Amino acid sequence: MDNLDILKSELMNAVNSATDLATLEQTRVTALGKKGKITAMMKGLGGMDPDARRTAGQALNIFKDEISTALDARKVSMEDDALNAQLTEQRVDISLPVRPEEEGRIHPISQTIDEMVAILGEMGMTVAEGPNIEDDWHNFTALNIPLDHPARQEHDTFYLPGDVENRKVLRTHTSPVQIRTMMNNKPPFRIIVPGRTYRCDYDATHSPMFHQVEGLWIDEKTHMGHLKGCIIEFCRALFGVEDLPVRFRPSYFPFTEPSAEVDIGCIRENGQIRIGRGDDWMEVLGCGMVNPNVLENCGIDSTKYQGFAFGMGVERMAMLKYGIPDLRTFYESDLRWLRHYGFSVLDVPSMVGGLNR
Ligand code: DAH
Repeated sequence: MDNLDILKSELMNAVNSATDLATLEQTRVTALGKKGKITAMMKGLGGMDPDARRTAGQALNIFKDEISTALDARKVSMEDDALNAQLTEQRVDISLPVRPEEEGRIHPISQTIDEMVAILGEMGMTVAEGPNIEDDWHNFTALNIPLDHPARQEHDTFYLPGDVENRKVLRTHTSPVQIRTMMNNKPPFRIIVPGRTYRCDYDATHSPMFHQVEGLWIDEKTHMGHLKGCIIEFCRALFGVEDLPVRFRPSYFPFTEPSAEVDIGCIRENGQIRIGRGDDWMEVLGCGMVNPNVLENCGIDSTKYQGFAFGMGVERMAMLKYGIPDLRTFYESDLRWLRHYGFSVLDVPSMVGGLNR
């Protein structure tokens, strides 16, 4: 015990002068390992008389904690240094010449979102945005989605770590932006919300990250006729088919009442789908009159205001419109694919210019 101070400065020196993780680990073993110096001193306590043992034991425990803390701190600082060195070394060299492409292409997802915004924008709707990381209240509760709804289950939704009550989610749809808009503004509302959404799913038609466009239109006298007019015009403009058959099928969503699913006419031939007049139907979006509970959850007087909402998958629309068979190819960053399916930078979608190439 007489040499405690000397040992302490020896070990602290070793910790502070270690420049790599292996040396630091060696110091840890020398001090605290099974055959380490502090461990040996701890064992020596057994042979002391009780008073001396108590004093020495306390001093040793404090010493042990100090050394452990110093070892941990040094380790963290070494790891930080290593990461910083790596970040400096691997910096992207923006002075490198660009890839030998004559011109870049616009990704079909961006193009399709631009087209949707052009059509709905012309109807008087403006783009709204919200966070990708949402809380349970905005993503589910405020939208009238009950606690036992299957969408809330772990295998469908990406939950961030945290206690069950307060944990955040990667938003499973763009509908929470309805809530944010209504909470923070005064009616009337005419918004569209393009954005990324996330669900635990992966196959030819589902990906864990995908895009949706949400619409919300609330005013004093907005009714189902407006909803139908808006959706029919939208589908016809997007697919560029003037007499495209559009059908509303009764459905259920917690956030709308009544709710409907929308199908458009198509022809299926040898596994290919052609949008237009035909004897078959293809489901393209969900919609309905906003449930009064949702309005009330946002502090909007549901006896005065009413309106409609809709939501659709951008990938699905892009696949249908541009004949892209596999959803997974959207995210493979394959330049050959982008050259084939991508759009010219100058091909800015507008209703006047014609949306259908
Ligand atoms: N949020 C729904 C989904 O992700 C889509 C949707 C359906 C949105 C109907 C709406 C709606 O606003 O009225 O499946």
